[in-house]
Amino acid sequence: MPCSARLQLILAFLKPDICQHKTLVQEVTSRIVSNRFYVVRSKIVQLTRSQAEEFYFAHRGRFFFTRLVGMISSGPIIPLILARHNAVQQWRDMMGPTKTFRAKVVSPHTIRSQFGLTDTRNAVHGSDSIDSARCEISFFFPEFDFDKWMNVDEEKLRFGAARWDGERCIHRLQCD
Ligand code: CDP
Ligand code: MG
Repeated sequence: MPCSARLQLILAFLKPDICQHKTLVQEVTSRIVSNRFYVVRSKIVQLTRSQAEEFYFAHRGRFFFTRLVGMISSGPIIPLILARHNAVQQWRDMMGPTKTFRAKVVSPHTIRSQFGLTDTRNAVHGSDSIDSARCEISFFFPEFDFDKWMNVDEEKLRFGAARWDGERCIHRLQCD
């Protein structure tokens, strides 16, 4: 049912441990779609170590930084631009707590609880605010025009003008 509140855009990505297995990619993607997220853009990339350091610059100096950038640049990842009402909070609720072992105890139905391997190898990433979403989207999708999408496509998507393209794992506007 269409919702009158505007959609938010966020950046999520599936981390290398998920991307290694097609079935895990399908499982996580189908959870995303069945939780009423629109997949606006999707691609597969492998970050260099220095790109991973740039992405996680805010965590430089933390004890887990080296293993985090090593893990993120160890294989392909799948960045997604997701749209939904209240997307930041909804995606963080779906991911669960940062630390996999905490997630297993306090939020057993979340993605990190079910697919995470360690506190670092925790399956998925999600923006933590609207502002960080905008930066993270431009990091992975520099050609994506955030303002144009919000001004032109947001309303179309919100009022149901999208169809799911299962082959490309993306929602397309009817006019695309
Ligand atoms: O990803 P999220 O926003 O939930 O957590 P973060 O505090 O922004 O940390 C970024 C990433 O660093 C996490 O997703 C983990 O992969 C990693 N991390 C870690 O390895 N050990 C920790 N104690 C905290 C975070
Ligand atoms: Mg974070």
